[in-house]
Amino acid sequence: MQPTVIAPSILSADFARLGEEVDAVLAAGADWVHFDVMDNHYVPNLTVGPLVCSALRKHGVTAPIDVHLMVSPVDRIVGDFAEAGATLISFHPEASSHVHRTVQLIRAAGCQPGLVLNPATPVEVLDYVLDELDLVLLMSVNPGFGGQAFIRSALDKLRKVRERIDACGRPIRLEVDGGVKPDNIGAIAAAGADTFVAGSAIFGAPDYAGVIERMRAEVAAAVRA
Ligand code: DX5
Ligand code: ZN
Repeated sequence: MQPTVIAPSILSADFARLGEEVDAVLAAGADWVHFDVMDNHYVPNLTVGPLVCSALRKHGVTAPIDVHLMVSPVDRIVGDFAEAGATLISFHPEASSHVHRTVQLIRAAGCQPGLVLNPATPVEVLDYVLDELDLVLLMSVNPGFGGQAFIRSALDKLRKVRERIDACGRPIRLEVDGGVKPDNIGAIAAAGADTFVAGSAIFGAPDYAGVIERMRAEVAAAVRA
């Protein structure tokens, strides 16, 4: 198992003070910045683009930026995010006409490619492409909004994807996104996730460090058990 990564989603941050919020959450012990990009087309919401990613880099953020693209089409925007300082770029297979090509494009742009599975997307979508990925992101809510409830069937799916990743033998991260809280993160870790996105659970709490510490402790206990 790879070291645990906690990736707060900026979707729940105070956008009027985004730089400070990201600094605060990283100082509180977060590992990555989860950067949710929505286009009001692939998902019914609109957020931020490459300009804001590059503004965070200019602000001095050096932590990995984990760009979650909820946009269609995907390919045209990949280079812009690579130039803006993205570390990982993940996309939804339904949003790209040529999934394998998009993966190659992300890699060629110098970023780590990830594929995102919606709650109803079958795990077979990973066939023939898993070997090319650095990350599989399982959605445990339908994409578009923060603050939704965790969908339980994601646990079963995590176990299935964990088996595939272990069989593949490469250090591919298994990330979960949606409704992750201190009281369910243990079960999520036990099902095989090693990378945890949390928006409202972290940014909605008064003490970011306290929540992140609790999450890490729950993951450590679940993985030991
Ligand atoms: C949903 C986004 C998530 C979201 C998670 O489409 O991809 O990253 O911000 O928010 P919470 O943790 O509040 O469910
Ligand atoms: Zn996300």
